[in-house]
Amino acid sequence: MSNNDEKIRIFDTTLRDGEQTPGVSLTRENKLQIAKQLDRLGVDIIEAGFPITSKGEKESVKLITKEKLNAEICALARTSKKDIDEALDCNVDSIHTFIATSDLHLKHKLKIKREEALEKAVEAIEYCKSHGVIVEFSAEDATRSDISFLKEIFNAACDAGADRVDIPDTVGVITPEAMFKLVTEIKTVVNIPISLHCHDDFGLAVANTLAGINAGAKTAHVAVNGLGERAGNASLEEFVMSLYSLHRKKTNIKTQLIYETSKLISRITGIALPPNKAIVGDNAFGHESGIHTHGVLTMPMTYEPMAPELVGRRRWIQAGKHAGGHGISAQLKELGIDVSKNQLSDIVAKVKELGDKGKRLSDSDLSALARAVAGQTSLEEKIVKLQDFSIMTGLRMVPTASVRVTIDNKIFVASKTGVGPVDSAMKALQKATASFGEIMLNEYRLESITGGSDALAEVRIKVEDSEGVSASASAAGEDIVVASVEAMLDGINKVLIKRRNMDSKIPK
Ligand code: KIV
Ligand code: ZN
Repeated sequence: MSNNDEKIRIFDTTLRDGEQTPGVSLTRENKLQIAKQLDRLGVDIIEAGFPITSKGEKESVKLITKEKLNAEICALARTSKKDIDEALDCNVDSIHTFIATSDLHLKHKLKIKREEALEKAVEAIEYCKSHGVIVEFSAEDATRSDISFLKEIFNAACDAGADRVDIPDTVGVITPEAMFKLVTEIKTVVNIPISLHCHDDFGLAVANTLAGINAGAKTAHVAVNGLGERAGNASLEEFVMSLYSLHRKKTNIKTQLIYETSKLISRITGIALPPNKAIVGDNAFGHESGIHTHGVLTMPMTYEPMAPELVGRRRWIQAGKHAGGHGISAQLKELGIDVSKNQLSDIVAKVKELGDKGKRLSDSDLSALARAVAGQTSLEEKIVKLQDFSIMTGLRMVPTASVRVTIDNKIFVASKTGVGPVDSAMKALQKATASFGEIMLNEYRLESITGGSDALAEVRIKVEDSEGVSASASAAGEDIVVASVEAMLDGINKVLIKRRNMDSKIPK
């Protein structure tokens, strides 16, 4: 293998630094589920947790090591025997031990001298090695540490038997140029692989990690969705995709699983992604403007730097004031609506008119508009038909919804509990249509159009199947549960109709 073919190793810290995201706290089951998904994704190292933190944290790490995944399972420990013993007790493959090296941390946090920090690091590494585990040593706040001391401690770490040294940019203050220089400098004193652990306080975590890799570091600490302390860590998806697409360097990541992993982690952690987040945000492969939709529909590379399928996604088009004929025509084809050339120009004109009034059109809005313009007044086609639903809720009971739908003239009944009547109804509908695979609810918005307790409310949703086929839908009414059920059902139908236009197995 030439140097450029050597794979960069992915040290995933979603379950450790990622869990330190303010407000995130994972159960043992959550952590195990995430670890299994990270393993499927192909990360090389899973930092499963910080066992000294709590009883539950230690149990989670134990549960993960018992699973015998392919990835190296690592636990975090300070340079104290107590921390290391807790980690060893979890049967991990490796220990990531750290001590701060900047004078700022030594003086104000640890209240020790440099020599003592060095001694503690050496002792900890030797102690770990005497128990036969792989050791990665981190010099916390490395990027604000005195370079000569950093070299001294890394040199001592190598002599003590460390397998890897890590350069953490703990508060995200380095720049790509400085990271390149720092790694080049550290390489002169260490003969073991160098890792990088960059935080995103200035939005530079991925750029800094890439720069360090280009200078010769071999492992990147990353977290899915960029989770982590404060502004987070370098995001796995951004790092892996830019490393591959822009620097032609490979990892063991199965990139097609990136999106489903991101979704799973967002759902479990409760940390929603901004729509414009690179790679995994809702809009990352969405197009509205006429010029762009025309471009991507003719030749995707015109406005897409990578194929959406490469990360497990699909392109989608939004109808709005910037729309053009090509995009609207493609959207209508997906929805199975045939219109003439003249009708298409009328539809585009109406879409622009509505867009000028600030309206964002869902697939159901576009479909209704197109059918009205084309004079298609017959009832809109539905693959899943709602027969009935009922919901029970109250102060002392778990909200429970039951739905009855027909698909291809067969009846499907499902019940689900939820946090409220809307949630249980959405989940019951998802269960009733599970034979089509999971259709996830990605977005739910409720807006009151009029005032009062009998106000007219509008529900707008976005759903997506596991293949990345998505649809937006809306419904209005005085009963928010009924409107939510109608919108969800319409969204599911729109996904199925779009899918049917790609796949003939969906019933007509
Ligand atoms: O950001 C940091 O310095 C850390 C250390 C534990 C490596 O997370
Ligand atoms: Zn960190």
